[in-house]
Amino acid sequence: MLGKIYGTGAYVPPEVLDNERISQLVDTSDAWITERTGICSRHIAQNDTTVTMAVKAAQKAIEEAEILPEELDLILVSTMSSKVVMPCTACQVQKELGAENATGFDINGACTGFIFAYNTAQSYIASGIYKNVLIIGAETLSDMVNWKDRGTCILFGDGAGAVVLKAEEGGCFQTVTHSCGMDGEALECNTGEFMTMDGHKVFKFAVRQVPACIMELLEMNQLTMEDISYFVLHQANARIVESVAKKLGVGIEKFPMNLQNYGNTSSASIPILLDELNKTGKLQPGMKIVFAGFGAGLSWGATLAEI
Ligand code: ACO
Repeated sequence: MLGKIYGTGAYVPPEVLDNERISQLVDTSDAWITERTGICSRHIAQNDTTVTMAVKAAQKAIEEAEILPEELDLILVSTMSSKVVMPCTACQVQKELGAENATGFDINGACTGFIFAYNTAQSYIASGIYKNVLIIGAETLSDMVNWKDRGTCILFGDGAGAVVLKAEEGGCFQTVTHSCGMDGEALECNTGEFMTMDGHKVFKFAVRQVPACIMELLEMNQLTMEDISYFVLHQANARIVESVAKKLGVGIEKFPMNLQNYGNTSSASIPILLDELNKTGKLQPGMKIVFAGFGAGLSWGATLAEI
């Protein structure tokens, strides 16, 4: 048994902050941000929280999956930006959804978090412990960035994405993940403080490790680049995505991007992009796709999924 994707959902707060407005806050420009990152605007939560965004994304995924909240066995929320240390975000989401039969817990894997949550869900399903799993990536990064630091505040946005998996025979799931805590200082955020980042170090790490990890995953499964319909990468920077595509020798059309509208939403970026592909009819049954995430830890990983 493996988890098949039956529903996806996404929610971003209505408030939009474009590059022009950011350039009124810090010494930057629309041209610089667009050229160096590909980001044009991002959504910033004013009346939403990590929990409310997670719930709104989850409701859409649940509706599409045609499942009742009471039928969910497990709720996994990948987040590093909850305002509350406890109870965990997943249990707050459970309460709002009325998913009274589910178990809920959070995973903090920063921008690789959705990969870790998806892998955890598939492992539980494969072992026969749970059948119906809701996975959410939800982040309010606007609370964590220093709006006076142009090196970070231009990059991030808020939002949530959700996926419902139901146990079924067949399908495929494989993953390759890594961490390197020794380089953790490249991207840090102490409690109650703003995040700090060595942008160059993170950039170099991503463009080296992500393609290597995807190649490791495909070799392990005796698959070629042609077997994969889409590479759904964490949406951090268009130059990172383009570099990964080039290193793998794969056309950029297999690397969908939406970071121009959302910025980097950390663990929400992969499920938000997956929902966009789903809702625009780009996903067909039997397609193989690769999810790849990377970020603080440092950590990174790639996962093979079948639609
Ligand atoms: N606006 C204008 N100028 C700027 C800005 C800005 N926002 N930021 C830096 N500059 C200046 C610098 O001061 C520097 O000026 P100098 O040449 O006079 O010294 C110049 O622009 C070039 O700066 P670099 O840091 O070399 O710019 P770079 O091309 O490396 O882009 C960036 C910086 C966008 C941060 C890039 O390094 C990057 O994307 N790194 C990866 C970051 C990332 O993806 N982090 C998150 C991944 S993990 C997660 O999602 C949590």
